Parts: sequence; C-alpha cells; structure tokens
Amino acid sequence: MLETLIENEQYNIGYLCTTRQCELGRAEHTAMRWVAADGERKDFTYRDLDGLSNRFANVLKNLGFSPGDVFFTFLPKTPEQFSTFLGSLKAQVITGTLFSNFGEEAILDRVGDAKAKGIITKKSYLKKINRVRDRMPALQYVILVDGEEHQSPDVLSYTQLMDAASPEFSTPPTPPDTPSILHYTSGSTGKSKGVLHAHRSVLMQHQTARDILQLTPEEIYWCTADQGWVTGTSYGIIGPWSVGVTQVHYGGQYDAQAWFHLLEQEGVTIWYTAPTALRMLMREDPALYRRFDLSRLKYIFSVGEPLNPEVIHWARKVLHHDIYDTWWQTETGAIMIANRPGLEIRPGSMGLPVAGVEPAIVSDSGEMLPGKEQGNLCLKPGWPSMFVTYWNNEEVYRQKFRNGFYFSGDTAYRDEDGYYWFMGRSDDVINTAGHLVSPFEVESALLEVDEVAESGVIGAPDDLLFEKVVAFISLRPPFEYSRELELKIRLHVSNKVSSFATPQEMIFVDSIPKNKSGKIMRRVLKARYLGTDAGDLSTLDI
Ligand code: PRX
Repeated sequence: MLETLIENEQYNIGYLCTTRQCELGRAEHTAMRWVAADGERKDFTYRDLDGLSNRFANVLKNLGFSPGDVFFTFLPKTPEQFSTFLGSLKAQVITGTLFSNFGEEAILDRVGDAKAKGIITKKSYLKKINRVRDRMPALQYVILVDGEEHQSPDVLSYTQLMDAASPEFSTPPTPPDTPSILHYTSGSTGKSKGVLHAHRSVLMQHQTARDILQLTPEEIYWCTADQGWVTGTSYGIIGPWSVGVTQVHYGGQYDAQAWFHLLEQEGVTIWYTAPTALRMLMREDPALYRRFDLSRLKYIFSVGEPLNPEVIHWARKVLHHDIYDTWWQTETGAIMIANRPGLEIRPGSMGLPVAGVEPAIVSDSGEMLPGKEQGNLCLKPGWPSMFVTYWNNEEVYRQKFRNGFYFSGDTAYRDEDGYYWFMGRSDDVINTAGHLVSPFEVESALLEVDEVAESGVIGAPDDLLFEKVVAFISLRPPFEYSRELELKIRLHVSNKVSSFATPQEMIFVDSIPKNKSGKIMRRVLKARYLGTDAGDLSTLDI
C-alpha cells in the first residue's frame, strides 16, 4: 500500500489525504461523516475534501502566504477544521492547531512564539485573540469561519475568501523533509515548546493506521481526540485519510449516551479514544450499554495516559471488547509502542514496539539497562515521523538526545517478552485527562493574581483524570483566603491558560519551599501532599 501512496516523491500530506485518494479511485468514497452536536449529519467525499482544501490553499496563496509561513487553526470541531488544515499543508504553509478552550496567554505563547502570519477562528473567540494581538505583530490575518462579511482589511470572512478562490490547486512537489505541522507541547520549565514536524511523518502515520489501528477504506473509524492535540491530527486526519478510510467526526462533547448512540448509528468499526473517557464511561450503569447494538464495532484503541487494567477488565465484561493501548508523544508524531489485534494483551502494559521503532530503557547517564530494570524510556532516532526540532529552541531539542538516544521524558521497564510498562514521568509535567500541563505555565498565571505572593503547582493522583492539578498558594499580607478569592484565581487561570490547566485543588500555605537558588521544590510539595518522604532536603531554603 505504501508503494501506491507515494509517487514521484510527492510527500505533501494535504495532497496525499485528498487528491491522491481521488487518484486511487476514492473520489466518491465518503471521507468524513460530520455529525454536529445537535445530531445533524453531513457527508463529505474525498472529492469534496479535495475541492475545499484546494480552495483554502488558494485563499492562503491569494493572501500572500508562502511556503514556510505559519498558520494556525483555533476552532472547535467543525468541518472547516479539516479542510483548512489540509489546504494550508497543500500550500506548504506550516500549520498549527490550538485547543478551542485556550486562553489569551496560551494563544500568545504559541501564535506569538511561532510568529504566525494567520489564524482561522470563530467570531466568539476573537476577543481572546484581540486582547493579545498587539503582542503578536507578525499576525497579519484573522479569518472568521462564521464571518459573512470582511470586518476590516485584516479580519476576514472565510465564506467570502472561499467564494473568491478557485477549487483547482496544483500542490507543489513536496520533498519528505519539508516542514509541515507545528504542535505546542508543555514542558516542566519555561514556556510550551513548538514541536516541528515534516511531511515525511505521513509514512509512519500511514503505516501505523494500517498495521496497528487496522484501518482500510472499508472501515468506519472514529477518533474522539480534539484536533488541538497531536492525536487529533496524526490519527484524526493524516493516518486515516492517507489510508482512504471513512472517518466519523462529532461536534458534541462527551456524553455516554450520545457517544454510544453515535457508535451504533454510524456503525463505527474502529474507535480510538482515551483512558479518561473510558473511565468516565465505566461510571455509568452497565445497563446503558445493553441498549445499544455495537455488533459492528471491531476494535477499541486508547492513548494519552496509562490505561489501567481495571478499564480493560470492565470493557471485556461490559462492552465485550478488548482495549488496545498505544504509546507515543507529540514529538514522535506517530504510535511507537502498542498493543494490537493478534497480540496477547498484558493489562497495564503499553505493548510491543511498532515495526521499525527501537525503544530502549536507559539510565540517566545513557547506558542501556538490563533485565526488567526501570529507567528512561528512550528511542533510537531515525523513525520517519520523528520531529525536526523545537521551534526557535534548538538547544532544548539537543538536550533531548544523549548517547545516541532520544529521551522521551517517561520512565518505564521492559518485561522478559519485550512488553513495555509505563512507570511515570521523569519531569514535573502533569498529565491531566491526557492533556500535558506545565506547572510553570500555571504558576506564572497564578502570580498575575494580585493577592498571590508565591505558588507551586504539582500533579497528584486522581482516579478519573489520572492526575489532577494541585496548586499550593501563599498570599500576600494582609490578604486572606476566601471563597471569592479562590473563584477569582480559578477564573484567572482558566481565562489565561485553559480550563484543563485550572487547579482542581488549591492549598493555601504560609510559604512555598524553594531551594537556595530560589527554584520551587515541587518534589517537596508532592511529598507533603502524598504524605511521603521528600528525600534529601539539604538544599531547601525555608
Ligand atoms: O507521558 C506519556 C503520556 O503522554 C505523553 C505524551 O503526551 P503528548 O505529547 O501530549 O501526546 C499525547 C498523544 C500521543 C507521554 O510522554 N502517554 C501517552 N500515551 C501513553 C502515555 N502514558 C501512558 N500510557 C500511554 N499509552
């Protein structure tokens, strides 16, 4: 199949997911079944997707975008999310996606850092962009997906631009290393980093969509991930459409009944979702599931957080299905380690490496560890979907590699049969419901609240979300804790960063433990929270 996908060295993702699919005889095949939150459905064939993305490539070209410029989508799930993303890639514009619930600081840290030239959004999100617009001087165009008329020379109507653009577009030859997608991801220190990918990633997204997710043009596939997240692009756009599958995309939020209705009504055969969603489904009365006919469903896959064995046992009992866990990251671009049909599942394990991927368990000093020893989960560089660099941050990129290994930031061990078992993160990044949250980003937002003197943010275990965001806060005298203040702080973080970064728990303390150089000792806070030993405290300055 791979041989037939790539021809004449054309690696352009936008082209391969649309024009190439039409050439392969799928022009009238349904590429996307769009189901809106209110249940309204609309089908898009590969020809439709090709035409719409061609038009959008022309829109960007007509506005003066050139290859290598940066463009972002800042949309909830809507059909335009997909056609604009693919159109932008066709024009060789570097394309980023943003979660629709990002606040103004989160937008600035990404769109501003990338020096993006354009963004497409909704009228109701415009105010978030406008509040930081003067700090993003490179941003020339805001396109409003629901704007009927141009508002000003730089706030433009998508409808008008699309009406004026031709549906014919000849995608320029795109060698494999041409930059493609820019996804921001959180680290434990500093601002979030832009993970830059190249069009070659499609090779691995295609291979894993086929070999791990078992996608073929005959399947009906639903990936619940938001497009603001790498899963939503690698496996909600690129992998599946490069294979020619029919994808269901749903504009509604999580709702057990609505989701199962969708699985039944659309006859979904392959479903890719996440542990938090599965744990939420587990809380429902099992009788709910007996009302739905899921006989067409073949496989369920999961990603983003540890998949606890209880979820697998529940799914076997209640849904009569296994759940196949998959492990990867924004930086890896595609699935690296996975369970898959035909392979014995060891509940709690992430599975075996994907063909061509070489993971290793490595000590901090870069030595491979023997047996079942726990250590850093590393990868031998060179897999096709490997990221190119961190945007404007070559130094941090280089720090990710040591002794010939890429350090993922996770810790794990490998059992005697080669299965990998996730242990945790080797840094302070918080994984809440599959979203990576930087404690630094939350601490910075907290410090903007007048009453807050200092803060330290940690991730603490949570039955549903895997981890919850917990903030230790000390107040500036004479301020004292009140419910109103807590609400004010919560709202501030939600508006500035995002709702998922908003602390679930706030603990008001007199001071925050710091080391002699003033660094917040999150390890001490975590130990205090968990009631465990904080280890060596000799550098502590309190
Ligand atoms: O810590 C691991 C966790 O999510 C991190 C990657 O997050 P992100 O770059 O946002 O990409 C998410 C979508 C692939 C990893 O470093 N993670 C991801 N999958 C798993 C996981 N932790 C445990 N088990 C998994 N299957």
